[in-house]
Amino acid sequence: MTTGFTVEQLRSAVTDAVRAPSLHNTQPWRFRLRDGGIELSVDPLRRLPATDPSGWGARIAAGAVLFNLRLALAVAGTPATVRLRPYPADPNVVARLVPDVPRRPTPNEQILHAAISRRFSNRAPFWPDPVPADARWRIGEAARAEHCWLELLIGTGAVNAFAEITRSAHRVLERDPAYVAERTAWIRSEPAPDGVPAAAGGPRGEPQDLLPQRGFGGRDRAPGRDFEPEPLVAVLGSAGNTTADQIVAGQALQRVLLTATDAGLSVSMISQPIEVSGAREALRLSLGRFGTPQMGLRIGYGQPGTATPRRPVDEVLDLPVASA
Ligand SMILES: Cc1cc2nc3c(=O)[nH]c(=O)nc-3n(C[C@H](O)[C@H](O)[C@H](O)COP(=O)(O)O)c2cc1C
Repeated sequence: MTTGFTVEQLRSAVTDAVRAPSLHNTQPWRFRLRDGGIELSVDPLRRLPATDPSGWGARIAAGAVLFNLRLALAVAGTPATVRLRPYPADPNVVARLVPDVPRRPTPNEQILHAAISRRFSNRAPFWPDPVPADARWRIGEAARAEHCWLELLIGTGAVNAFAEITRSAHRVLERDPAYVAERTAWIRSEPAPDGVPAAAGGPRGEPQDLLPQRGFGGRDRAPGRDFEPEPLVAVLGSAGNTTADQIVAGQALQRVLLTATDAGLSVSMISQPIEVSGAREALRLSLGRFGTPQMGLRIGYGQPGTATPRRPVDEVLDLPVASA
């Protein structure tokens, strides 16, 4: 008979899981043990009403945290069977994980798990070195393994079309004072357990930039340290755009990010063209693909950097209070 997960297993897996990315580093997730299963929920108190009115971003983040959770449990020898959205009446519950037959982790699970703590969003300019074919193939495979697609934009025409759509979405977003207020409120100039540290915000945008920076209070750039003129841009997409598709896309995103990290690559996320519905449709048409774009990525070789902070694990666990 398979017994349920223990509090120790939950705590250990969640410690790894929360390294996942989230919009403005809001970390909109909670975890609990129920009848031996781990349940992951979106935390409605950490949603961004102006930036993420539909909850898309929170579900992408929840998918990413779920992928880390799956990896951490598998590497500990207790892989999980996952059910997405197990309670239709409670849409905040993203997934329920119950123990599967114990087994040894695969080499790929070990490699990806080891990349969790090394991954971070690198918003600085990358070196101009091209990303080799085998690394491109690996990140595409990572998306496909999680039932999504990754379109690598080839040629200046495709990259310029992406840049144009992104700049126009960026302008739409920046015109909304509530969006700007939310972005500004999550910039941290002092050490904090959440939000985007100003030091991780990348350089301040300049008119010659091909892709607009999200503006997390970035620094002035060193002379001559412009962004790479021919970035490798990729678009991650899912088959559909239901809430379950978005959770699936979040898992694929994290698998792509960890695979890129293992390949020595840096990545920054560009989601303005996903957040503005007209821009997302324009992007889909420009790619000529079925399905829905879920994230834009800039990929390349970057300077070393450090991971951003997370809240203590106990703050995201809902554990039963021990009776006296
Ligand atoms: C749904 C989603 C959208 C994001 N959009 C952007 C973006 O447009 N620009 C950006 O610089 N970072 C973006 N990020 C990255 C987050 O800001 C980042 O994950 C968070 O600050 C935590 O930092 P880390 O990735 O270094 O761990 C996005 C992340 C998620 C999950």
